[in-house]
Order: sequence, then structure tokens, then C-alpha cells
Amino acid sequence: MTTQEEINLPFNEMIEPKLLRHRVVSPQLYSEIHKRSLDQGPQFWESVARELDWFKPWEKTLDDSNPPFYKWFVGGEVNASYLTVDRHANGWRRNKVALIWEGEPWSDGPKEVKKLTYLDLYREVNRVAYLLKEEYGLGRGDTVGIYLPMIPELPIFMLAAARLGVAFTVVFSGFSAQAVADRMNDAEAKLLVTADGGWRRGKVVPLKDIVDKALESTKTIRNVLVVRRTGQEVRMEKGRDRYLHEVLSKVPQNAYVEPERVKSEDPLYILYTSGTTGKPKGIVHDVGGYMTLLHATMKWAFDIRDEDVFWCTADIGWVTGHSYIVFGPLMEGATEVLYEGALDYPEPDRWVSIVERHNVSVLYTSPTAIRTFMKYGEQWITKHDVSSVRLMHSVGEPINPEAWRWFFKLVGKERIPFGSTWWMTETGGILITVTPGSYMVPMKPGTNGPPILGVAANVYNDEGKPVPEETKGYLVIERPWPGMPLTIHRDPERYVKVYWSKFPGTFYVGDYAVKDKDGYFWILGRADEVLKIAGHRIGTYELESALIQHPAVAEAAVVGVPDPVRGEVAEAFVILRGGTSVRPELKEELAKFVRENYGPIAVFREIHFVNKLPKTRSGKIMRRVVRAVATGSEVGDITTLEDEASVEEIRKALQEFKEELKRT
Ligand code: WTA
Repeated sequence: MTTQEEINLPFNEMIEPKLLRHRVVSPQLYSEIHKRSLDQGPQFWESVARELDWFKPWEKTLDDSNPPFYKWFVGGEVNASYLTVDRHANGWRRNKVALIWEGEPWSDGPKEVKKLTYLDLYREVNRVAYLLKEEYGLGRGDTVGIYLPMIPELPIFMLAAARLGVAFTVVFSGFSAQAVADRMNDAEAKLLVTADGGWRRGKVVPLKDIVDKALESTKTIRNVLVVRRTGQEVRMEKGRDRYLHEVLSKVPQNAYVEPERVKSEDPLYILYTSGTTGKPKGIVHDVGGYMTLLHATMKWAFDIRDEDVFWCTADIGWVTGHSYIVFGPLMEGATEVLYEGALDYPEPDRWVSIVERHNVSVLYTSPTAIRTFMKYGEQWITKHDVSSVRLMHSVGEPINPEAWRWFFKLVGKERIPFGSTWWMTETGGILITVTPGSYMVPMKPGTNGPPILGVAANVYNDEGKPVPEETKGYLVIERPWPGMPLTIHRDPERYVKVYWSKFPGTFYVGDYAVKDKDGYFWILGRADEVLKIAGHRIGTYELESALIQHPAVAEAAVVGVPDPVRGEVAEAFVILRGGTSVRPELKEELAKFVRENYGPIAVFREIHFVNKLPKTRSGKIMRRVVRAVATGSEVGDITTLEDEASVEEIRKALQEFKEELKRT
């Protein structure tokens, strides 16, 4: 990880200054500017926040009287729906296209492209808000569940809920019934919005059927609204389920619902994310701080302008889509692409054709997508014109330098900014990037870059002391920042324990990182039991729980192993129940069972059957040992192990697997 050499690479000289409003500065100069931003304390954020439209200005920038439950812009009143929709619909951007939606189905071209202007969006959001309020009686303090594919109704429902001060919780449409039920129960949602189905790789995902199954075990859902997307017959339960178009037909075209003047520190949404143990945590985000961070990072990381067509290829079901499809770009009045389906359907160049067709100028994608494109080959890119693109970033997992170089060359033409922005569900928005202010620092393949202005990131050792440069440690955020979580829904103690207890007073991220001599961070991956499969955040614990629900499984240990395209995939070691015969189909059956019960994002390289698992004397599975054996690294200290023979078991299973691979 050299630094000066990398910076002097010719590509940094070739960055086209005309493409960017930012000033290109040296890392040293940026670190001076960054230091000055920190010297201002929380007040640094005031000038950013002032650029939003507040109904009532805040009285206190940061309330830190009850750490770690920090509150930003206390006393301020604001509304995220007003900021994203009304502001533009009531102004000169009213006829500007907000959303360019492209459906997945394709025959000799995209079958459906829909454009919504800011005025269209305003009308739709108001009508849906009217429905939620008048028909379903929802208001402040309520929560609505949303389980929709990538269709315009998804952002519309999020914005309509925000308008009423109703918190929403979106469940990624790739999750299955159990995940829907768990989230609805934890969030105590009263209404669930779904669709008859969603398109994925030319097939219909039967969302309504999944909802029906989920609702067998939910306690609070009273009503279901169904968007007609794919058109097939679905079961509608009388008194509970209704089609959106039917109920909406009774709502006046010009319905208007006054946006609630919510408090800055009121909850905007709950988004469930995986951690080390237990069920996913409901991360709660506020309105004022969150919107402030998004405004800052839309300007800084993406240099967003009115002329841009912004495309974030993530799914709205994850935080990237919440922040950089729904709230960020719309708040800035940008035009953006919303694409329904798989990036490589029906051909590997579907995504390039979208860039070309809609003149995408700012592209936000993921390392897994890039590695998938690499696998298909550059001919799929070179046959299209991608010269509209002027800035790109990736997100979700570390980007390997080869993938970075390949994409920078083919799409970036070696002259446009391309970074790997680091952040997570909990941070609300981007915190580390090579475009960390109205500045750009020189790029290096694979790096994340320095922290944005006003954010104090560092790397600590186990004792909570900063490590020297070029030394691996734990990534931490040393001060509160706007966009930070309010808490974990219904579990504030867990919020304190998970994030604020390892290093008291400091936010523990759960990633390994290195800081280099230029102050750039290189995030190396998770330091806990969380997997990043194709950028999707999945707890090993969740996959183990899914496995042991199968009648044949007694115990299971799941670990992550490297994968050339997906970054990481799961590998499971399973102890079968006594009497289960090891049928050859059982492995596939288990993988299918997990896909059905958890979601298709759970990808296993292999499921092994063993008789023992390495455990501590107190009976806890030592995943560290399993992972070390599975990845072929040092097993390390095993003195606390109950039975050393279990390590041999795993070695043997892997050995057999490798031999099997050789034979096939
Ligand atoms: C990882 C996604 C390296 C990291 C926005 C983090 C990254 C987790 C990057 C959060 C990046 C995200 N380089 N690693 N540019 N971006 N990560 O909550 O391990 O789904 O902790 O949020 O993704 O995942 P989450």
C-alpha cells in the first residue's frame, strides 16, 4: 500500500477538471482543511443544515446531554417529504423529470419507461399520503411496512409516510416470509404495502404469496395494500387486503396533505440490519441530522448538479437506496434513474444500455456488479457509448484494485473521478470518500480515502488506542455526526452495547481498517460475524438459524469465505440429527430451504456434514476456528477449545470437498 507512488500515477494527472466543480487538492492540504472543520465542533454542520428549508430553525445544534443518545438540531421543525418534493414542485423545477423509471421486461428494448416530473411526484405523494391518513388513519407515532419491488410506488410510499410523520420500515424484496414477519412484529407496523409480484430475471417473484405466509405470524398488521405490477391473480383476503389502484381511484387528483412539522430528532424510518448475534437490529434514523448529511454528501461525494442524471444501482430495500435513491438525489432536485430489475438481464449489457439510453452522468454502483461485468468481458461495454458519465463511486464492500482499474479504464476512460465510498446502515450516509468536501484528493486503486469534513474517523487497537499509520485495527468514529442512529428500535440497551461499549464514548463500526500516510482509510472488511455476500449484509447467525429450522439439522456453523465475484459467500458446517441419512440431494435441499426461508441472497459455496463442531468449554461454537480452517489461515489459540478433534473434523470435510472439486 504505497502512497506517494500511487498518487503520482498518471491517472490523477488526467482527471478532467472541467468535469468537476471540486478543487483537486493534495492529501496534506485536505487534511489541514479537514482539521479546521473539526476545530469548529458541531457548529461546523450549521452552515450545511441552513441550506435545507426548516419550518422552524433549531435552537441547539447538538444535544449531547444523554450520550450516546445524541440529538441533532434540537428545536428545529422539518419534513423530509417537503424537502424532497414540495420544494421542487412549488418552484422552478416543477416540470423537471425527477424519476426515470425503467421496468425489467425486455423484448428488443425496454418495454416500459416512465418519467415522473417533480410535480407528478408531488401529486402522487400527496394522494398516497391522503390515503394513509384518511383511509387508514395513520399519523405520527405509527409505522407502516413496505415490501415492494423497485417500482415508483416504493419511493412514493416512503415519501408519503414521511409527509405524515409516520415512520416506515422497508423490507428488501429479496427477503422471504420470516424476515417480513420478524420486521413487521418488531416495528409493530399496522399496514403493509406490497405488490402482486416483482420482476427479477424475467421471472415473477410472488411477493403477495410471501406476505400471506408472513402474515400468519404477525401480530399488528391489520391491512395490506397491493400494488398491481405483474398482473397475475393473487389471493385477496376480504376485509384485510385491497388493491392500491382501487382505493386510490377514490382519492381526488389534487388531494393535498399538509406536511407535518416534525421535530428534527423524530424518527424518519427504521431499517433492519444484521449484527453479530440475535435478530437484525432496527436502526432508527432521525429527520434533521439525516437529511443534513445527505445534503452534504450529495454535494461533496457526488458533486450533484441540475444537469445531472444520477443513477444508484442499489435496491431501495437497503440503506444505499434509502439515502441515495430516495432522499438524497430528490432533495437536491436531481433527475435520477430507477431501474426495476437485474443489471445483466436479459443480456450482460443491460446496465450499460441504461447508462447510454438515459445519459447517466453520475453512477453509483458496487464492486460485485463491477466484478460481474468483468467476468462477462469488456466487449459488452465498448459497444456502447458511456461518455455521458462524469463521476462514479462504488459502495458496499472493499473494491479490489484490479476491479477498480478495469472499471476506471472502461467506463471512466481514465479521466473521471472514481471512488469507493465507505459507510453503513448506521451512519446514514457516506463518511469516507476521495471527494470528501468541495474538494477531491488524488485517487488510489482500492482506497476509500479520507473522512468527509466534520467527521472524525480513526483506527484503534484492542485497547482503544489509535494505531500507528499502516497498521490494521478497528475503524471508529470518534465524535457524533449528523445522520447517526437515534437508537435501535425498542432496544436502546443493545444500541449502547453494540456500538458504544467496546470503546466507551466512541462509535464502534465493526470493520477492520488501515490508515495510510496520507490519512486515507482502507477498509478491509468486517471484524465480526457479519457477511457481505455480493455487498448484502447478512449475519452468520441468521443463516445458522435458518439452517437449524430444517428437520434434518441439529447444529450449524456458518462462516464467510472469499469469492472472486461476490466478494464473500457462506460456507456451512452442519451436524445432522441422529438417524438422518446423508442423501446426496440433502445439500441442495438445505441450500434451497435457506433460500426459501431467508432469501435468495444467501449463497453457499458448500454445505458440509460433520459430526463435531469446535466449541468452547461453555458450549459456544468457535466460528473463528471454523473460519480459519475454511479459509486456510492460522487457527491460532485453541486452548479454550472443548474438543480438539472437532478441528480435524472440519479439515477432513474440507479436504473431501476439495477432492470432490478436483474430480468434477
Ligand atoms: C462494508 C452499506 C469497503 C463495510 C452502505 C460496512 C465497505 C458494511 C464499503 C456496511 C466500501 C460499505 N469499502 N467496505 N466502500 N462500503 N462497506 O450496512 O464492511 O449494508 O461495515 O451499508 O459494508 O453495510 P451496510
